[in-house]
Amino acid sequence: MSFSQFYPLQRHPSTGEPYLRLPEPFDRIIITPPRREDVPHIVAILNAEAVKRWLDGLAFPYLECHGEDWVAQTKEKSDMVMHELRVAEEEQPRGPLAAVSGCPVSCLRGVIDDGTDVYLGAIEFSRCNFPDVRDRAEKERLVARNESRRRGDPHIVWCVGYYLTVPLHGQGIMSCALSTLMRLWAVPRMGARIMRAETIIGNRGSRRVLEKLGFGICDTVRVQKVTSAGELIEGFHVLWWQQREEGGDSAGVSEL
Ligand SMILES: CC(C)(COP(=O)(O)OP(=O)(O)OC[C@H]1O[C@@H](n2cnc3c(N)ncnc32)[C@H](O)[C@@H]1OP(=O)(O)O)[C@@H](O)C(=O)NCCC(=O)NCCS
Repeated sequence: MSFSQFYPLQRHPSTGEPYLRLPEPFDRIIITPPRREDVPHIVAILNAEAVKRWLDGLAFPYLECHGEDWVAQTKEKSDMVMHELRVAEEEQPRGPLAAVSGCPVSCLRGVIDDGTDVYLGAIEFSRCNFPDVRDRAEKERLVARNESRRRGDPHIVWCVGYYLTVPLHGQGIMSCALSTLMRLWAVPRMGARIMRAETIIGNRGSRRVLEKLGFGICDTVRVQKVTSAGELIEGFHVLWWQQREEGGDSAGVSEL
């Protein structure tokens, strides 16, 4: 069977954006690229106590200018992936499906009855920059090697980060959204085979999202520090996911 190089992206009927839809029971949630008008919603969610206490490395308070930068950079990356897909479609319209440099969709939106939607949160994949490696030379070597790998290389170490608007926490949405993006895009279209994430010790919600997808704790870095959001933390867990060798999805990803 042959597919368009855009498979399985759909085109948004009113904005023309690429999007993916979550499966039932969350099929009123779609994932699209970011939009400029998302900025006030991003700012509100990231400054909420139940979100910012689990994030480190972002600017706090998180201001409109930070949201604008994120939207501009993320949209540029999305446009780059769409460009790669258009080139692939011209060169090999009947497949095989080309490997691309990232995921063109990142923003979760709840679609309401009149067809408009509400910003709910985001998921982002990026090449890992090994924040837990203390030795500077070793860290630079790992980052340079990871950056130098060609797109689709199964040895690329990917990193994932995400957040969701507080009133929707604990309903299974992020587990479903991350599983959907990994199954439909990261694994088949980015060639992702190794992924990692860091969670602050005590962030049960994030840890469980990852564990349910087959990630396991590979290291716990115990270091008391104050995060960029001003929280005193005890350190963080590093979680890894690796696709099984014998083909098919990781059990965790396919079963959710
Ligand atoms: C992490 C986060 C995205 C999880 O999203 P979510 O949609 O609420 O997650 P799910 O509903 O899929 O829940 C996944 C698991 O976490 C548990 N969980 C969710 N929120 C929780 C909370 N606040 N406290 C404890 N457990 C929680 C759920 O019970 C579920 O576990 P279970 O299957 O064992 O019952 C969300 O809590 C969030 O935005 N947190 C702040 C930002 C953040 O931590 N980002 C990740 C940084 S590493």
